[in-house]
Amino acid sequence: MEPKTSPEVLAAEVLHEVRQPLLSLKAWLQLVKEDPTRALPVDVLLAQVARIEHLVNDFTRLAANRPAHREKLKLTVPVREAIAAAQRPGQPGPLPELEVVFDVEVLGNLGLLQQLALNLINNARDASGKNGRVKVVITREGVKPVLYVADWGSGISPELRAKIFEPFVTTKDTGTGLGLAVCKRIAQEHHATLDLAPPQVLSETPPPSTVFRVIFDGDTAAHTTAKRKAVLVVDDEAVIRLMFKDLLGKDYDLVEAATGEEALQLLRTRPFDLVLCDKNLPGVSGLDVALDIRKNHPQLKMMLMTGYPSLLTAQQSVELGLTDYLTKPFDDIRIVREKVRAALSAPRTELRKATNRRVDVYEDNPLTAKQIAEALTLLNMVPNVLTEAKPGGADAPAAVVMSWDFNPAHGAAGVALARQLAPGVPFVVLAEHLTMDSALESLRGGAAACLPKLLTDVKALSRELQRALRL
Ligand SMILES: Nc1ncnc2c1ncn2[C@@H]1O[C@H](COP(=O)(O)OP(=O)(O)OP(=O)(O)O)[C@@H](O)[C@H]1O
Ligand SMILES: [Mg+2]
Repeated sequence: MEPKTSPEVLAAEVLHEVRQPLLSLKAWLQLVKEDPTRALPVDVLLAQVARIEHLVNDFTRLAANRPAHREKLKLTVPVREAIAAAQRPGQPGPLPELEVVFDVEVLGNLGLLQQLALNLINNARDASGKNGRVKVVITREGVKPVLYVADWGSGISPELRAKIFEPFVTTKDTGTGLGLAVCKRIAQEHHATLDLAPPQVLSETPPPSTVFRVIFDGDTAAHTTAKRKAVLVVDDEAVIRLMFKDLLGKDYDLVEAATGEEALQLLRTRPFDLVLCDKNLPGVSGLDVALDIRKNHPQLKMMLMTGYPSLLTAQQSVELGLTDYLTKPFDDIRIVREKVRAALSAPRTELRKATNRRVDVYEDNPLTAKQIAEALTLLNMVPNVLTEAKPGGADAPAAVVMSWDFNPAHGAAGVALARQLAPGVPFVVLAEHLTMDSALESLRGGAAACLPKLLTDVKALSRELQRALRL
């Protein structure tokens, strides 16, 4: 292991990085001040502000000694972003050419890899004269993805080569000597190596004066993806996303989305193991995201979070098969973490295929039992009223109806009983008075629905049972 970077050096490194987007912002704003008719490149400016924001977050992460979020990405993505970020008005030195020999993927952090590439490109440009040349190559050596940044500039003397990656080593008047130290740290975080390569590696004539080379470890990349579970956090409040990053980022591959639209987009492009989604999002809501998941990713687990809990949405959440319904503000975020852990480690119950039309009805009130039986008969099902808990054994029913007030397993215990008596069989919970409690316990117990008993109208109950149990 390399020695840990000291806090002072770390702080200096981050300031070095923040300086780049700040200079870019300044340059653009100066241009517009000179010529007010010039259109402000708002997207470019916003990208620089976003970069500063990322760097600040990254510093917080480094100071707390947490690993960076990593995902599978094409190496061209951070490199193209770095080339775009290098195009700041007034910066001397040639812009890089890009050659993609193999469009390789790495397991990496987009922002950090962009920083790495940008620092190497900036150095290459600094070393080149006005008519110089800088070239970036993306390829692989064997199975390992490789990035080269080459220039035909001043070159590096042998004495300097020996200490070039140490912090504060610089030959420039305005340099900090931190660019390469940052690159080295980012490479280490990615289990990659950064070094100076012999100029001949690039078979260019004339050969370049300097070639920096980053070699990624293909094997570790694949291995690490397999181990970490992917969690998508969807919330329009940045503080909540940050809180989850802090809470879960160490153990899971955490991906953030600020809107429902962004979440749907992400769900289309990559797999997740769990989605934590705010209910009240502007535009596409949390329930819309849940609907999409039920339809397109029925095995994916999802929890809804809300600052405005309601019985109706809790009930909808049960019917959408959500894993939990969390109310904000969280009393104790450690409980949230525990719920996430439990949800991720619990196997998804595979629903059994019904081989009969029997529905086991756990209801000890004879009058109510009669009405439920009638409602089921209307659906051509065969009701089997039980007044005590008896395991169904191999002969599983097609569905189960559990009364919330069933004795002796009342409430949550009854919900657990329903699942235990007939594993893999859909079940509904019927409650005399629907409450948040009965809805949430039904949801956590994996019920297909939590319905009021609707004793006055057998037909309505029949319709609700049909819908919930998909009979
Ligand atoms: N492509 C290159 N060609 C020639 N010299 C280089 C090249 N890249 C780095 N160097 C040398 O290595 C030194 C250290 O680079 P590093 O990026 O760490 O700091 P810096 O560029 O001097 O400062 P800053 O990154 O703050 O601008 C540079 O001052 C320069 O002398
Ligand atoms: Mg530099």
